[in-house]
Amino acid sequence: MRTNRRDLLKALGFGSVGLAGSHAAGEYDLSFVTQASAATGTGSKVNFADDVIYQIVTDRFHDGNSGNNPSGELYSSDCSNLRKYCGGDWQGVIDKIQDGYLTEMGITAVWVSPPFENITEVDSDSGASYHGYWARDFKDPNPFFGDMAKFEELISVAHNNDIKVVIDFVPNHTSPSTSDGQLEDGALYDDGSYVTSYSDDPNSYFHHNGGTDYSSYEGQIYRNLYNLADFDHHETYIDQYLKDAIKQWLDKGIDGIRVDAVAHMPPLWQKTLMDTIYDHQPVFTFGEWFLGADQYSQKYYDFSNDSGMSLLDFRFGQEIRQVLRDFSDDWHGFWDVLQETQNQHDQVIDQVPFIDNHDMPRFTVDSGGEVNTDMALAVLLTSRGAPTIYYGTEQYLQGGNDPDNRKPMPGFDRTTTAYNVIKKLAPLRQSNAALAYGDTEQRWINSDVFFYEREFGDNVVLVGINRSQTWYDVDGLFTALPQGSYSDQLDGILDGFSTSVNSDGSIDTFSMGPRTVCVWEYTGDTTSPALGHVGPTMGTPGHTVTIDGEGFGSSTGSVQFGSTDATVVSWSDTQVQAEVPAVAGGYYDVTVTDAGGTSSSAYTDFEILSGDQVSVRFVVNDATTETGENVYVVGNVHELGNWDTARAVGPFFNQVVHEYPNWYYDVNLPAGRDIEFKFIKKDGSGNVTWESGSNRTYTTPSSGTGEYTDTWK
Ligand code: NOJ
Ligand code: NOJ
Ligand code: CA
Ligand code: CA
Repeated sequence: MRTNRRDLLKALGFGSVGLAGSHAAGEYDLSFVTQASAATGTGSKVNFADDVIYQIVTDRFHDGNSGNNPSGELYSSDCSNLRKYCGGDWQGVIDKIQDGYLTEMGITAVWVSPPFENITEVDSDSGASYHGYWARDFKDPNPFFGDMAKFEELISVAHNNDIKVVIDFVPNHTSPSTSDGQLEDGALYDDGSYVTSYSDDPNSYFHHNGGTDYSSYEGQIYRNLYNLADFDHHETYIDQYLKDAIKQWLDKGIDGIRVDAVAHMPPLWQKTLMDTIYDHQPVFTFGEWFLGADQYSQKYYDFSNDSGMSLLDFRFGQEIRQVLRDFSDDWHGFWDVLQETQNQHDQVIDQVPFIDNHDMPRFTVDSGGEVNTDMALAVLLTSRGAPTIYYGTEQYLQGGNDPDNRKPMPGFDRTTTAYNVIKKLAPLRQSNAALAYGDTEQRWINSDVFFYEREFGDNVVLVGINRSQTWYDVDGLFTALPQGSYSDQLDGILDGFSTSVNSDGSIDTFSMGPRTVCVWEYTGDTTSPALGHVGPTMGTPGHTVTIDGEGFGSSTGSVQFGSTDATVVSWSDTQVQAEVPAVAGGYYDVTVTDAGGTSSSAYTDFEILSGDQVSVRFVVNDATTETGENVYVVGNVHELGNWDTARAVGPFFNQVVHEYPNWYYDVNLPAGRDIEFKFIKKDGSGNVTWESGSNRTYTTPSSGTGEYTDTWK
């Protein structure tokens, strides 16, 4: 259990009050910890808040087996052609786990490229599918990465080294269907059997609505992304195929899923996918909803709060690039984004921040830019959310847009400053719960200098950074760190220093030099229940939910969903598991009660679903509306808002699959259930026009997808 690892670190004194000067560098030999925790497993599959994820482009990380490399025009043996396969594979990841490169850095999860079989035709412009986003068969492994036995070995080697495995899943599309007939016309296979292709698609398993110009959410979903053959998730075959495929990979033991292109699939179909995952084997799941610099979208936040999955934290990622890479914004802008994301996400600690990835230029701009990368990594690793580091960032790999940002690893040097920043801060995420679960408070700010504090229970981490070449006096700094002296947890590698805190929480005025990061921490002994994390964030009655935090005590207490006591499955001081009680669907506050009392802050808005979920398309014809009005559906189950028009589901779409005055929307509903509902019209101010007549009725399918079509009454 991960909690054992944290306890072990505590027992070693790893996370206790850092008295200045008392820690000789290297005093904490983490190889010992890695060994000891290896025997105890990989921690929670539903909580990554104290993890550090390492994103690997499998083909570019390490070639562990040249015997599986493709030949001919698929392959570039020296990787001089970055659009072809370069030989990297799962054996390469295994090798780098076993030789300690990842574990010594403190990495606790790897996110690998989509693992399934991709097309093998090569396009004269875009090249080969080395990246894995052009699937052909979601149920078979990509042979250039290894066979299924090798994938299972990757999982077991990773788990034996306390590393979780996250796969990239791409349920929006297969591969490009090109007008010049190159590539494989989006062909889909089911465990080796041909199913369909884009130009020969008698059952309409794909959308045939042209490509999206990104001007509307509806068009982004129901039209093609570039020329990628776009799945119609409303087709029962596709719905089941994709859900069966992810169950198969879950059965291999994966610990997490990154979902590609979530802005391009029906949001509530994705909620049925999440219900399938949580029903089968709950794992932490985060989606990719790409946002560019300064891009903001309410739909992005709504998705992260309602779909059951988290998101890659593009707001954080784009902002930190402006502040520490491009210097086009400053810490005030960064603080604004921290506040915005804290306010907008129901669970900001479940989002996945990063500083670069395979879809944007690398963080390190040039030689000389390394220190900016080091500072950004220090901020990333002390921030809320489950941080992700893109492979090679610790080696200062440079490169512009794809595929230049996907070069092979230049080497596996363990002495770079970046590698050592990660090595020092990753274990702190596990030993001090303030980094995993704490809120973020601004303590001191100007455009170049920022002090922020994370706090959870009796644990505190104070981080200070000066990004500039200028010396600044920091006066009037206050902290929640108790009175005492604190050494820099980075051991001065980013020029940090020790500090002393006075009895009133003040720190005497000091000067902060250029390009400096200090990390000061206090690991307390939280004795009253402090609830840090609940995962998953939604479920049906009977599902097991894992509650992490501190101060739960050693003797079993109780867990409440609203006012209902849940059956407790397991209990320790830092982790409790309980069953979602058999109550009506809705949003419930989760609290933990032990001898020390009830957790001061509840986990709010856990969503209890009314039962196993299926996807149903509602179509309403001849619904004419005034400008600003849209059609919604509201009904007698939680999933349809329990007749609360403020929670009605929509707005419906009316441009692509059906056109105005006909409207449609794909909704998640409990399977095999008689429901009552009505369509309504709502305007921008929330004014509601109900349909006339009695309630509509519909029995949802027990599996597969359903559809209800009628005219507006
Ligand atoms: C986003 C992925 O990250 C990107 O690399 C890929 O090409 C597209 N989605 C399409 O799958
Ligand atoms: C809510 C009621 O419960 C439902 O039956 C009715 O159709 C609508 N309000 C509209 O009056
Ligand atoms: Ca290989
Ligand atoms: Ca789509």
